[in-house]
Amino acid sequence: ADGLHPADHPFPQKTLFGTFDHASIRRGFLVFKEVCSACHSLDLVHWRNLVNVAYTEEEVRDMAAEYQYMDGPNDVGEMFERPGKLTDPIPRPYPNEEAARAANAGAYPPDLSLITKARHGGVDYIYSLLTGYCDPPAGVDIREGLNYNPYFPGGAIGMAQNIFDGVVEFDDGTPNTASQITKDVVTFLNWTAEPELDERKKIGVKALLMFSTLTLLALWIKRNRWQTIK
Ligand code: HEM
Repeated sequence: ADGLHPADHPFPQKTLFGTFDHASIRRGFLVFKEVCSACHSLDLVHWRNLVNVAYTEEEVRDMAAEYQYMDGPNDVGEMFERPGKLTDPIPRPYPNEEAARAANAGAYPPDLSLITKARHGGVDYIYSLLTGYCDPPAGVDIREGLNYNPYFPGGAIGMAQNIFDGVVEFDDGTPNTASQITKDVVTFLNWTAEPELDERKKIGVKALLMFSTLTLLALWIKRNRWQTIK
């Protein structure tokens, strides 16, 4: 069975001229880092991608340096560990799919880099999924290790509810309710999937201005040229 149809949520980036709320991207990365990254990778994102999008360069350097990365071989052929830097990818929770499944009762937590584009319903689906956990209806049996979620196709999902009121604390004073936390992480994941969105909308406005001007000009020239003939 298909999942429940998600409600339409007013994300600003969904509208014709709307762009991302970058303060929300900033909070959303914190949610990803503190909650989702325990199980999900984000392979297409490198630390440097966050610079001037949601964090300053200094902030990103500090966050990257909190993780250790394998590097090498060095001059004597040895591998070594060093703190992360801007050019490193966001670290993965598991070395490979087998390890990920082993840790999640057989279910595979997908890479989240493109998830808002990969799932039908996009940001609305992810928002509804993350906030939609509830008790199964009478008569529906959920196997041990799975969780009921009416938005997930089939209704039984390997991921348990992760977002609750207060599960992360924001540094900009935004209230950390479950719905706010979810909105922010979904905004962040929309940015990872469509980092060009802001630029695309800006070019769209320019293109509209340019083509409407050219259309008016063409109409005026046409009238002007045909005036003597009619
Ligand atoms: C699946 C998001 C945290 C384990 C998923 C899916 C999304 C998602 C969008 C795909 C659902 C689909 O296939 O339609 C998130 C976000 C998180 C988060 C945004 C943080 C707020 C976690 C954590 C764990 C986890 C902490 C592990 C404890 C899984 C697993 C699946 C999954 C095992 C596969 C479920 C299945 O296919 O049955 N998650 N997740 N997730 N997630 Fe998460």
